[in-house]
Amino acid sequence: MRLPAELLDAIQRETDKVDRRKLVQATTQLAEYYKAADFSTPAIATEAQRAAYLAVRLPATFGAARRVFSEIRSRAPHADVGSLLDLGAGPGTALFAAVEEFQTLQQATLLEADAQWLTLGKRWAAQIQLPIAQEAQWLQQDLRSGLTCKAHDLVVISYALGELPQAAAEAVLRKAWSCASKFLVLIEPGTRRGFAAVNAARSALIANAAMIVAPCPHQSACPMAAAGDWCHFSQRLERTSQHRQLKGGELGYEDEKFSYLIAAKAGVLQGDVLPSQPRIVRHPGKHSGHVQFSLCTPQGGIVSRTVTRSSKAAYKAARKAEWGDTWPDSTMA
Ligand SMILES: C[S@@+](CC[C@H](N)C(=O)[O-])C[C@H]1O[C@@H](n2cnc3c(N)ncnc32)[C@H](O)[C@@H]1O
Repeated sequence: MRLPAELLDAIQRETDKVDRRKLVQATTQLAEYYKAADFSTPAIATEAQRAAYLAVRLPATFGAARRVFSEIRSRAPHADVGSLLDLGAGPGTALFAAVEEFQTLQQATLLEADAQWLTLGKRWAAQIQLPIAQEAQWLQQDLRSGLTCKAHDLVVISYALGELPQAAAEAVLRKAWSCASKFLVLIEPGTRRGFAAVNAARSALIANAAMIVAPCPHQSACPMAAAGDWCHFSQRLERTSQHRQLKGGELGYEDEKFSYLIAAKAGVLQGDVLPSQPRIVRHPGKHSGHVQFSLCTPQGGIVSRTVTRSSKAAYKAARKAEWGDTWPDSTMA
């Protein structure tokens, strides 16, 4: 996956404003901040840190958001998404990803505590000439001090829920769910901590009559959590030369690990969501003559399956299947 050219240009313009040495330093600080996962103070306090986020984190969070939104389209192909509410929006990453996936999107509201992000997001919207982002409501709001929101088809909390204290996160989740007329999407880093936040939210949402659309093909307790494991996925992104210079390494891509959840309002969307299929929850083992899958099943368990060359059509499909894809039930007999 590649960031749209106009976003890459916008990032470059912002990072060009910052002294190179300060940008490198801020990139290191940001990596240390997220590694320590102590969110009692904001990650971004300076222009250099903001530029570092744009250069090294935004492409990854954009990639994860776009991948998750594409999952809504494939699991609920007939459900229109006309409005988006983004909580902890940063510079509008999820909105920029959503416009790539949902042709039907007409209105957006973005809530963010940091006024500088809102200013930047609005400036980008004008530069990129993206009407929906120009007409969007960009609102400064601290999610810890109570959330007021109107109903939107899709509510997104991307890489923000885990930065809130637990009681605030629970309150925001309840409110976000009440404002989601069709879907609620949560995205967190693909770490044990990120997954724990997603899994706790999943339990709370199921208790509130949510239908889990993805990644889980069932509503039972998470079998990976029960096994002391954590459910996460990976999105490959092209790296720019600036990204390589700032983060080091020679590879032309990076793999962003993320955990996510798509919950739907069951009463509204029952007929629009396709029946659940097993999901590939690890990198498939692609060997000569056979492919091995670890699958989370609609029955609520994790099973291993091997597809051999002798099953011609299934083997061809298995060679193409990736971590995070669904895998047809018909091969599960
Ligand atoms: C890791 S960034 C994610 C930004 C964006 N959602 C993305 O995916 O790129 C976390 C964002 O949450 C915002 N945030 C953190 N705590 C917040 C709070 N209490 N109220 C509102 N926004 C908050 C931060 O300012 C930051 O923009």
